[in-house]
Amino acid sequence: MGSVAPISKAIKTPHLEVEGSCSLTGRIKISGAKNSALVLMAASLLTKDKVRLNNIPSLTDIDVMGEILIRMGIEINRDDNSLFINPKGLRDALLPNELVHSLRASFFCIGPLLARLGKAKIPLPGGCQIGLRPIDEHIKGLRALGAIVEIDENIISATIPSNKKRLQAANIVLDFPSVGATETILMAATLADGTTTIENAAREPEVQDLIEMLVMMGAQIKGSGSSKLTIKGVEKLNGCIHSAIPDRIEAGTFLIAAAITRSQLVVGPVIPAHLEVVLNKLQECGCLIEEIEKNLLRIIPTQIKAVNIKTKPFPGFPTDLQAPFMALMSTANGTSEITETIFENRMQHVYELIKMGASINLNERTAQIQGVEELTGKSLMGGDLRSTAAIVLASLAAKGLSTIEGLNHLDRGYESFETKLNSIGATISRIESHTSQNIVSACELGTHNKVVIKQNAA
Ligand code: UD1
Repeated sequence: MGSVAPISKAIKTPHLEVEGSCSLTGRIKISGAKNSALVLMAASLLTKDKVRLNNIPSLTDIDVMGEILIRMGIEINRDDNSLFINPKGLRDALLPNELVHSLRASFFCIGPLLARLGKAKIPLPGGCQIGLRPIDEHIKGLRALGAIVEIDENIISATIPSNKKRLQAANIVLDFPSVGATETILMAATLADGTTTIENAAREPEVQDLIEMLVMMGAQIKGSGSSKLTIKGVEKLNGCIHSAIPDRIEAGTFLIAAAITRSQLVVGPVIPAHLEVVLNKLQECGCLIEEIEKNLLRIIPTQIKAVNIKTKPFPGFPTDLQAPFMALMSTANGTSEITETIFENRMQHVYELIKMGASINLNERTAQIQGVEELTGKSLMGGDLRSTAAIVLASLAAKGLSTIEGLNHLDRGYESFETKLNSIGATISRIESHTSQNIVSACELGTHNKVVIKQNAA
């Protein structure tokens, strides 16, 4: 009997099998931004008119958000990458715990619900297990706008006082430029009475995308892209057609995939200004990057050398690319230092990279990475969205086969991740589930490395 499929036999959950030592080539199409799409969907609740959102990726997070809107009485249909939303039937419904817990972005609905219906009730949100992720800044903002906000048994209730018809404008200074809090306050303030200012606002491209949509709906907002936003409240907002920006994090992930496999790739559409620091860091570590057409980047890696990064709010290095970048640094020439300043628990990939042979010393939120010659394929577990992507990238570069569990995380945020990678030369199989019968067949057939196991019926 030939050599037997090595790793996957013990795995019962859906997983990927990734062949290492891979060389990529070709062109990758970047989907619409997940983090934009989620908040744009919530923003559609601010009007009674129909909204069409284009360039919306097909992801489980988007499905959950869609389900949440449906539970609130919204009609929503999908055709390819477009969502057709009819928010006329919005009603004040208590969202089911299980939906809200699986998606932190569900909390974005609180601002629009409050602004349009005068009341909102939402269970405390969930999302990736990457830290405490409190919502105190959201609540502070809504209270400043005159809402009465109470938390009782993990349910947040917000109402406009009975003697007022609308939220009331306020000057709000955020303690930290939180993306979510900026978005919540922005949406609520569009329909408030008077002119609101948000200082120390988040400047992320997804916030700018939201502002563009709100302005198209008739909102009056100044300062997009800066840390001071001024919102003159209007009485009502209209429907609109809006396209989400390209996903800068997905684009960054594929650029890093090219770098870690030392492969040339063309990646687009990507708005270079959304990824400036990441492009600079990739260049600094030895990649040539050129814009061959508008919003189309070619990356040509040479020798990869160690560079340091520290995550920061936009325009700093994005926390969402910290894990993929650490995978790259694991194979770089020299020692790098990576510090996570945004989330307190976003280092779950470190242990998996170490399993693969990476040399990483983690001290609280700072990792010292001594680049190694080679990583080795292993049985791995993704702990959150970006760390799962990071270990897929590391597996592409590693020697041998890796299996990766935790696909529920990956499917939240990367559209057709392995299909896209396979289209540019990777060999990744998705195994939905496994039985001992399958393993016996694989062994008897003497298959090796590239396991061909039929998926069990769902
Ligand atoms: C969004 C993105 C996420 C990204 C993050 C930072 C979505 C759906 N998710 O998350 O992918 O990694 O921005 O770019 O858009 N914080 C508070 N109080 C608050 C709110 C936040 O202390 O009220 C803290 C959080 O715990 C965290 C930090 O601020 O440590 C950043 O959070 P925030 O910018 O709000 O990120 P999210 O909107 O949750």
